[in-house]
Amino acid sequence: MEFQFILVDPAFHPHIALVKLNRPKELNALNLQLMLEMKQALAELDENDEVRCIIITGNEQAFAAGADIKQMESRTPIDLLKIDQFETWDQIRKTKKPVIAAVSGFCLGGGCELAMTCDLIIAAESARFGQPEIKLGIMPGAGGTQRLTRVVGKALAMEMVLTGRFLSAEEALKAGLINKVVPDEIYLDEAIKMAKEIAQMSPVAIRLAKESVLKTFDTGLQEGLNFERKNFYMCFASEDQKEGMKAFVEKRKPEFKGY
Ligand code: HXC
Repeated sequence: MEFQFILVDPAFHPHIALVKLNRPKELNALNLQLMLEMKQALAELDENDEVRCIIITGNEQAFAAGADIKQMESRTPIDLLKIDQFETWDQIRKTKKPVIAAVSGFCLGGGCELAMTCDLIIAAESARFGQPEIKLGIMPGAGGTQRLTRVVGKALAMEMVLTGRFLSAEEALKAGLINKVVPDEIYLDEAIKMAKEIAQMSPVAIRLAKESVLKTFDTGLQEGLNFERKNFYMCFASEDQKEGMKAFVEKRKPEFKGY
């Protein structure tokens, strides 16, 4: 499977596929093309009977530092509506096989949302989790306000979303956001270990069990996601979004005005 921004190995280990985000210079920032490739790769792996478990990973420095700010900077709410990028995210969420995120380094914004879309998260000690969108004059748009709150509770979700503070891997573990923290050198090995355990189980039972666990989350979720989406689009009507993203690109502090 050949892609531009991800590397895919359907036979990384027996019954285990690996999807590696591959924009290292941009800290694996998630541009639209990358997410389309991810959607296509996961759909194909879902159809491949040899694959029983999928691992998504980045590199040591970053799982993903969020959606691509440079690509979003000049967008209008109508652009976002037309691009309809969240259709891709909705499809990724519907992957039937279990997906493990193996996270090292930055796991921020859309990157954290992508990890939360996975079923299990294994993190290196150096991993940092956060929803820093607020610092750009916007808010999470790919499930951050909804999934994070369901997982870590209102207090911590509010703190992360309203201040943009990053969590260490240990904090993320304590908060229930992730499954395991391991030394940096073995985060991928640990994900493989878990994938091997899962791959030994009945693929049918695994599929039904995953579907059932997710059902708890789905109740009321779509409504929340729709609400979040409209508000995310609305952010792009503000001067502050333009200022926040421009300041990031120009490597200076933003001056937010509140309109
Ligand atoms: C585009 C990005 C990027 C991003 C980093 N880069 N994050 N480009 N989009 N999200 C680029 C930088 O511009 C830089 O390119 C290179 O990657 C290395 O980043 P540095 O900032 O130089 O690295 P460092 O000083 O180590 O800081 C790392 C960092 C910082 C703390 C992670 O890069 C950062 O704050 N990134 C943005 C994080 C963020 O706000 N994420 C949320 C995005 S909004 P150059 O060319 O200068 O070398 C979002 C919304 C999702 O995710 C909604 C739905 C999809």
